[in-house]
Amino acid sequence: MRVPLAVVGLEQADIQKVVEILESGNLTMGAEVRTFESLMANYLGVDHFVMVNSGSSANLLMFEYLLRPSNGKPSLQAGDGVLVPAIAWPTTIWPLIQLGLVPIFVDVNRETFDLNLESARKAISLSKAPVKAIFPIHPLGYAIQPSKLRSFANEFSLVLVNDVCESLGSWSEGLHAGVEGLAASFSFYFSHHITTMEGGGIATNSLEIADDLRSMRSHGWSRDRSDGSSMTEGLSLADSKFRFLTTGYNVRPTEIQAGIGINQVAKINDFVERRRSLANRVAEAIAGTPLNLMGNVDFSNLDSSQGHSWMMIALSVEAGSGMKLMVQEFLEKNGVETRPVLTGNFLQQPAMKRLNGFISDVSLENTDWVAEHCFLIGAHHDFTEEQIIHLIETIKGTSNFS
Ligand SMILES: Cc1ncc(COP(=O)(O)O)c(C=O)c1O
Repeated sequence: MRVPLAVVGLEQADIQKVVEILESGNLTMGAEVRTFESLMANYLGVDHFVMVNSGSSANLLMFEYLLRPSNGKPSLQAGDGVLVPAIAWPTTIWPLIQLGLVPIFVDVNRETFDLNLESARKAISLSKAPVKAIFPIHPLGYAIQPSKLRSFANEFSLVLVNDVCESLGSWSEGLHAGVEGLAASFSFYFSHHITTMEGGGIATNSLEIADDLRSMRSHGWSRDRSDGSSMTEGLSLADSKFRFLTTGYNVRPTEIQAGIGINQVAKINDFVERRRSLANRVAEAIAGTPLNLMGNVDFSNLDSSQGHSWMMIALSVEAGSGMKLMVQEFLEKNGVETRPVLTGNFLQQPAMKRLNGFISDVSLENTDWVAEHCFLIGAHHDFTEEQIIHLIETIKGTSNFS
């Protein structure tokens, strides 16, 4: 029996929808994308949602907007520093570097892996680059408290944008993760809470931002903007179809991706509930083993103040890396797939070492502790009961190591 990190997660209705879209002949971005966007905006409680082809593209577009909006003064300029957690996903960091910004790496919180604000405070005081933005990741289904982020951003006059690619369906202080910032990115890659195979998007309450993101995802075009017609006033019909208002990329989603997404949006809360129930069973199974459940979760007290959405399940082995490796090997031998927490300390990745000058000014003690002591197992909502029982029994088998 194998318990992978994720399974495909498509239902018969999703497959049927793909066939219908293929037969309709309407394949490129259109009505299905618009419907998916309005369902997502509604689910997240924001005014606008702009779908793109991946969470990575969503991150890229948010910073493209901050550097080159079609209107007014840019919020950021090349050379500005952006606070990011040292446990990060590559495409949280690459867009910053690619666009000439400077990632300022800060330590994380041990229990929840999110950016530690005390470390961020210190990093600001030590940074040579002017620090102008904060880009927290809400990791693995954990929603960072919006009031904390907001007041930190206000104190230092920082632009606040959120990477929520791992935490759809989580909330804190009554808000979906990340929506308190200027914009928040989401991913619908196949292992995530809902899937459009590949896919992503940006939530924002600003029409101006949403309009520019719509241009930027599609070559910089005036099409699809709420103000598109006023931007092309007085032009011939032919010319008005080819107006470009911003810099841009082609990171558009297809109708097929959106169609699958439409089917899935209504099920987000059910999927999260199934993931939570699995995490609860794992929490019970680790009693008497060397494992601890990370994420700072109180299963008995789930209310509007904090809801974890379990992208994966993070476990720690207090005894250290030797014991952690033995436990991981045991799980893997018994068919339970494991992985590091995101990429571990991102500064230790070969690609980062090749880029001169990207070091941390602050201690990354917690980051290194997480890399040494923690690992992930899957929490997918489509695991079968047989897979779950196998997972639980295998976890109980690690009690031999304590
Ligand atoms: C924190 C974070 N940001 C961005 C991404 C990129 O999302 P995608 O795989 O859809 O490009 C991921 C991917 O899982 C992620 O974990």
